[in-house]
Amino acid sequence: MKEKGLKKGLTYYGDPDFSRYLRYSFARSMGYSGKMLSRPVVGVAYPPSGFNNCHRHFPELLEAVKRGVLVAGGLPLEFPTISLGEAFINPTSLMFRNLMSMDVEEMIRAQPMDSVVLIGGCDKTIPAQLMGAASAGLPAIQLVAGPMMTGSHEGKQLGACTDCRSFWAQYRAGDKSKAEIDRIEGRLATTAGTCPVMGTASTMACLAETLGFTIPGTAAIPAVHADRLRASEATGELAVELANKGLTPDQLLTNESIENALRVLLAIGGSTNAVIHLTAIAGRLGKKVSLETLNRLSDTTPMLVNLKPSGTHYMEHFFAAGGMGAVLRELKPLLHLDCLNISGQTLGERLEGEEGYVDYEVIRPLNEPVEPYGGLVSLFGSLAPQGAIIKRSAADSSLFERKGRAFVFHSLENLSSRIDDPELDVKPDDFLILQNAGPRSGTGMPESGYLPIPAKLSKAGVKDMVRISDARMSGTAYGTIILHVTPEASVGGPLGLVRTGDMIELSVSDRRLDLRVHENELKKRREEMNSKPEFKLKNSERGYSWLYQNHVLQADEGCDFDFLKAK
Ligand code: FES
Repeated sequence: MKEKGLKKGLTYYGDPDFSRYLRYSFARSMGYSGKMLSRPVVGVAYPPSGFNNCHRHFPELLEAVKRGVLVAGGLPLEFPTISLGEAFINPTSLMFRNLMSMDVEEMIRAQPMDSVVLIGGCDKTIPAQLMGAASAGLPAIQLVAGPMMTGSHEGKQLGACTDCRSFWAQYRAGDKSKAEIDRIEGRLATTAGTCPVMGTASTMACLAETLGFTIPGTAAIPAVHADRLRASEATGELAVELANKGLTPDQLLTNESIENALRVLLAIGGSTNAVIHLTAIAGRLGKKVSLETLNRLSDTTPMLVNLKPSGTHYMEHFFAAGGMGAVLRELKPLLHLDCLNISGQTLGERLEGEEGYVDYEVIRPLNEPVEPYGGLVSLFGSLAPQGAIIKRSAADSSLFERKGRAFVFHSLENLSSRIDDPELDVKPDDFLILQNAGPRSGTGMPESGYLPIPAKLSKAGVKDMVRISDARMSGTAYGTIILHVTPEASVGGPLGLVRTGDMIELSVSDRRLDLRVHENELKKRREEMNSKPEFKLKNSERGYSWLYQNHVLQADEGCDFDFLKAK
């Protein structure tokens, strides 16, 4: 019989009886009774941090989770893991997602627990936890931070960071003063919780619920709402049941549940980053998320949710409008209903028993959607042989079918030093190109794909342009922005061959992105490029930067490490 609780996974001293004796003696030093130490152990992966504003309410959530575990007869033991506060990490939090996933996986495996609660929220933390938990293979339940509440500025409701971007664009265009932009700074993010729009954090919370890893109905509860604490307590209780029942991540993460998650991503107008994260999570169990599948589903999944950055509302409205339950009920005819959730119910059973108020202004009915197709679509062609992605729901569709002259920025430094040059020979119809900002570019694939409109054009009233890069974009951003071009420029992808003046052809309807330059000329450029030094991370001769530089995969493989994917 397999050992349970604190008897599991003994430390090696060469004498198992002594190891057990020592462990219990040290556990007793924490003041636990023998009765308490004989209970099933629920580990709680816990990433609060002074560098993570989105997680500042985690002590309260932890207390409620522990309460639930104790009520259900378990022993809750939290363990800290790396925390990734989106705006506090250099060069970018994505670079450390894999490190956090390794931390989560190894600590779940190394410590004696029977199930684990994953408390996460800010963008990369939920994917990192699900990746780690999928690899560790222990029953795991996700508790999400919940979105922050919106603030207001002179009668206008606002929330990070869609409104950060629109106000900043107005400031760059000279429509807002320095004094006003400074006042707004203190009003954009005012409570604990994750960004209050359908950005990456909220998208990943919704996908975690769709995949079955959260208690049904909990993804969208605001961070500061009392329901969030009740959900935390219930999560703790369920974790004890899981410890006894043993429902493991591979039972939830199936080809069908992944397809459901893609449907939901498309219907909520979710973040482009979620495609990378879902690919990485699925890859931990040997499942593939293909961009061709995304396109097939996008054609047949209407966008239902009217939330920023694609629409007008915020996460607090989404919660009040019916949240994920309402979305799943509307999408029901398109979903695989036999997928399990963490409570052991099938999706069909969950939806059967659910009813409730739906505010159709925020969550539209299936037959009257915001858009008849999904929010994201992949593009392929000579510029992106392995694919690229565009969030069409947050883009200007009048720019979707056209040819444009490339205007190239060779790197992030080149972009920031030139973008506001009043002499820049750039025109509103040009396609702005950013090269060398992909996973192996030395910058860790930052969210720089939202290239600013050049100052001279923005002051002239230009609001949107086609922008193409191998970078990512924040889930809170918007515009006609083509991202994740694969393979990236730094590993020899065709994006690196583009020069200012080349013609590029975009057709969102045909899913095409092509560089219209003769093959002989491209061959010549490729030879020239091969002789130039490649971009690398700082300090990549050692430590984690070395590991990252040498093992990170391209966007179409989720930017995971090659050695972490399932064989
Ligand atoms: Fe944490 Fe947006 S900064 S979710």
